[in-house]
Amino acid sequence: MMEGENPLANAIRATFTRPSWGFLLLIFTGLAVLSIHITRNTIFQLGPISSQAGLERPRGPPSCSGLFEAPPPRKVVKSISEFGGVGDGRTSNTAAFRRAMEYMEKFRGTGGTQLNVPKGRWLTGSFNLTSDFTLFLEDGAVILGSQVIMATIDGQGKMWWDLWWNKTLEYTRGHLVELINSHNILITNLTFRNSPFWTIHPVYSSNVVIKNMTILAPLHAPNTDGIDPDSSTDVCIEDCYIESGDDLVAVKSGWDHYGIRMARPSVNITVRRVSGTTPTCSGIGIGSEMSGGIRNVLVENLYVRDSAAGVRIKTDKGRGGYITNITMRNIMMERVKVPIRFSRGADDHPDEQWDSKALPKVKGISISNVISVDSRKAPLLQGIDGAPFEDICMKNVSISGLSPSVKWNCEFVSGFSDGVSPVPCFELQKMAHHLGVHIPELQWSLKFRPYSMVVKYMEKSIQFLCRHR
Ligand SMILES: *[C@@H]1O[C@H](CO)[C@@H](O)[C@H](O)[C@H]1NC(C)=O
Ligand SMILES: *[C@@H]1O[C@H](CO)[C@@H](O)[C@H](O)[C@H]1NC(C)=O
Ligand SMILES: *[C@@H]1O[C@H](CO)[C@@H](O)[C@H](O)[C@H]1NC(C)=O
Ligand SMILES: *[C@@H]1O[C@H](CO)[C@@H](O)[C@H](O)[C@H]1NC(C)=O
Ligand SMILES: *[C@@H]1O[C@H](CO)[C@@H](O)[C@H](O)[C@H]1NC(C)=O
Ligand SMILES: *[C@@H]1O[C@H](CO)[C@@H](O)[C@H](O)[C@H]1NC(C)=O
Ligand SMILES: *[C@@H]1O[C@H](CO)[C@@H](O)[C@H](O)[C@H]1NC(C)=O
Repeated sequence: MMEGENPLANAIRATFTRPSWGFLLLIFTGLAVLSIHITRNTIFQLGPISSQAGLERPRGPPSCSGLFEAPPPRKVVKSISEFGGVGDGRTSNTAAFRRAMEYMEKFRGTGGTQLNVPKGRWLTGSFNLTSDFTLFLEDGAVILGSQVIMATIDGQGKMWWDLWWNKTLEYTRGHLVELINSHNILITNLTFRNSPFWTIHPVYSSNVVIKNMTILAPLHAPNTDGIDPDSSTDVCIEDCYIESGDDLVAVKSGWDHYGIRMARPSVNITVRRVSGTTPTCSGIGIGSEMSGGIRNVLVENLYVRDSAAGVRIKTDKGRGGYITNITMRNIMMERVKVPIRFSRGADDHPDEQWDSKALPKVKGISISNVISVDSRKAPLLQGIDGAPFEDICMKNVSISGLSPSVKWNCEFVSGFSDGVSPVPCFELQKMAHHLGVHIPELQWSLKFRPYSMVVKYMEKSIQFLCRHR
């Protein structure tokens, strides 16, 4: 994508190929530190909002975007130009944005406000948003983070590019959009580029809808996760395209003893119709920071290509917490090295205070309708000694492209499988009479039956169990 183009409106069409020459330009803005902090806890929206929100198509594809309750049109509508903003790509607008927000702040709870950002390139440092507020980027508006350097724009890109690669830019890293204690949020129809760290990070928030977003970061930039719902509830992520140097979407809930103490789980998270690539990380990650607990996650219609992993669950000793009731279905992968990976031993702890006896509970993970082509490895499922991952169900999972000698690798996991190829590890072929569950057809002992019948019932029971997951 060329500099002069309109990335906000055009990026979706332009970014399905990996940037080549565009890559350097991405780095130019890669240092852009635009961090928007929201610390209020009533309503605001970020993104172009039409007066009639009209998000729910009556008979369209399934959608969770109804979690966002559309407010009436904002009473006060202003342009950033009215606060002295200049969209020439050179002038700093930090003061203008802060003045605007100070002004808008007065209308919270009394009709709300909308700040329009017209076509142009608006350099700015970080600013806080207020409640009952819409930040509306008009077609062709680009907000560029400027906190760090006008120099990037002045053509000293090479230096910054090197700095990026040699990691001496650690100090600039902030989340691009940070939502703290924020409720009823809509972020939609925008392109976010080159976050220095996680791109969108809702924490202690609820009713957050992130829809039709394009998120782009250099493919090898560390920790540039796309969207990280963290200790948040009722989060809906739909119709997004994400390219990044870390997980496309990662659900989290706090780190070791800090997360255990906060005990703020992530609950009711939907991730639907998300596609993208991350050469070093995964399409969807659960964890590894999950100490407040993660439950009721639905991931569907995920498309991951050219990535290190597709679906990944990560945890460790010391994390505590739980990961339960996770459903992932309709997943398509191409050239993903490890399509399904559960792992322990991230071996990163915030400090020495972590409790080695705080074991996470991982239970009730259902993965179905998966096609992975040109894969490199069979699923790698590694639970924790003393805290095995239980009740894992894999159904209709086809992983191809593997050499015939490649086998599943399972440790400390148990569960069921049905219609899975290549043949799963024996840990996922648990027999019904070991399960202690009550299945009417299996009430009588299998012991005296012919082998073929045992196998038949075994298959039946596995199908039964998978079906009821
Ligand atoms: C997002 O863009 C679509 C298509 O241009 C439009 O119909 C929709 O209203 C926009 N969403 C919002 C909230 O403005
Ligand atoms: C934004 O809000 C945070 C928390 O209230 C505060 O620490 C910070 O100084 C504010 N930043 C600006 C630019 O107002
Ligand atoms: C990082 O790159 C910059 C720019 O080229 C250079 O000045 C600096 O010495 C490098 N630092 C390290 C640790 O390599
Ligand atoms: C998605 O957002 C883009 C702008 O980034 C807009 O052009 C497009 O119409 C939107 N699509 C839908 C379905 O809202
Ligand atoms: C999660 O969703 C369920 C079912 O819709 C609802 O009953 C529950 O209250 C929600 N939990 C939270 C924490 O939002
Ligand atoms: C499990 O999560 C799904 C969402 O994927 C939700 O609909 C269901 O109610 C949850 N089940 C329980 C027992 O909470
Ligand atoms: C198996 O999964 C594939 C890929 O999602 C899907 O097209 C197919 O319909 C599924 N088969 C069954 C029997 O559910």
